[in-house]
Amino acid sequence: MSGRLRVRFGPGDNTVRVGDELYFRIERDAEVSVIHSRCPHRGGPLHLGTVSARGGAELLRCPWHGTEFPLARLCAKGVPAVQVGGEVHAYPPAAPGDSAHSAHQIVFAK
Ligand code: FES
Repeated sequence: MSGRLRVRFGPGDNTVRVGDELYFRIERDAEVSVIHSRCPHRGGPLHLGTVSARGGAELLRCPWHGTEFPLARLCAKGVPAVQVGGEVHAYPPAAPGDSAHSAHQIVFAK
């Protein structure tokens, strides 16, 4: 049986680990999204990807094989998240016993 775990991103946090899974937050157009970091291709770390704009769309490029994903689509598939002041509260899926650990210092280049 699984559920969701409420996690908090404080100011300066941009990743959180829930069990074995990593999520990251990204801000675009004044909205915050929390996205699973596992690339759908072969599991690469999307939180280390780069964002670029092309043809009016923002694309997130996976650092492993270079596949680009429309950022809007990734954000639409993100986990539920709410920003309250400088904190972001997100609700990623979790297994019983999972805990959350936020991380700093991971660079998300643009
Ligand atoms: S793992 Fe991301 S493009 Fe291959």
